[in-house]
Amino acid sequence: MADMKKQDIVGDFKEYTLSLYDGSEKTVYVTEVETPFPEGKLIVSRTDTSGVITHCNDAFVFMSGYQEDELIGQPHSILRHPDIPKAAFKDAWDTINNKQKWNGYIKNLRKDGGFYWTFATIIPNIRNGEIVGYASVRRKPAMNKVEQAKALYQKMLAEEP
Ligand SMILES: Cc1cc2nc3c(=O)[nH]c(=O)nc-3n(C[C@H](O)[C@H](O)[C@H](O)COP(=O)(O)O)c2cc1C
Repeated sequence: MADMKKQDIVGDFKEYTLSLYDGSEKTVYVTEVETPFPEGKLIVSRTDTSGVITHCNDAFVFMSGYQEDELIGQPHSILRHPDIPKAAFKDAWDTINNKQKWNGYIKNLRKDGGFYWTFATIIPNIRNGEIVGYASVRRKPAMNKVEQAKALYQKMLAEEP
């Protein structure tokens, strides 16, 4: 996947290299600017079986900072933030591949280097017993839950190789 572009970043940033599940690496630029979750909205996306975005709603596009045509066809990890440990995504994938629903707190990275917290549900779409894709709906997270998730993820990151 393409690295983020420095000219898109707004404000002071730190640079990180993410190693993705497929073995590739990606450079991301991260600021401390938070975009609050929009009141009364749901952020929705659908993916194919490999996590490539096939559909996203207006709130998703708005919060990501990308244009819709920059998102469709990209792996969902385009929004991956370095503060979320790999083990959280492994837990999500293990759960949904097991045809179960997964819930969790996810911090997403915007195109401009900023971030937003969500409470995400990921659901497998099952037809005739087979997984044909996934859908995700994200709600505004409770502030105290975000604080708990932050503490847990920091601990998990410190333990990751
Ligand atoms: C329906 C669906 C929604 C997802 N939503 C997000 C998301 O909002 N942010 C994110 O970082 N990863 C999301 N993921 C997980 C990514 O596919 C990916 O596993 C993650 O970003 C970590 O990247 P990696 O698996 O390449 O290491 C989602 C996956 C699915 C199937």
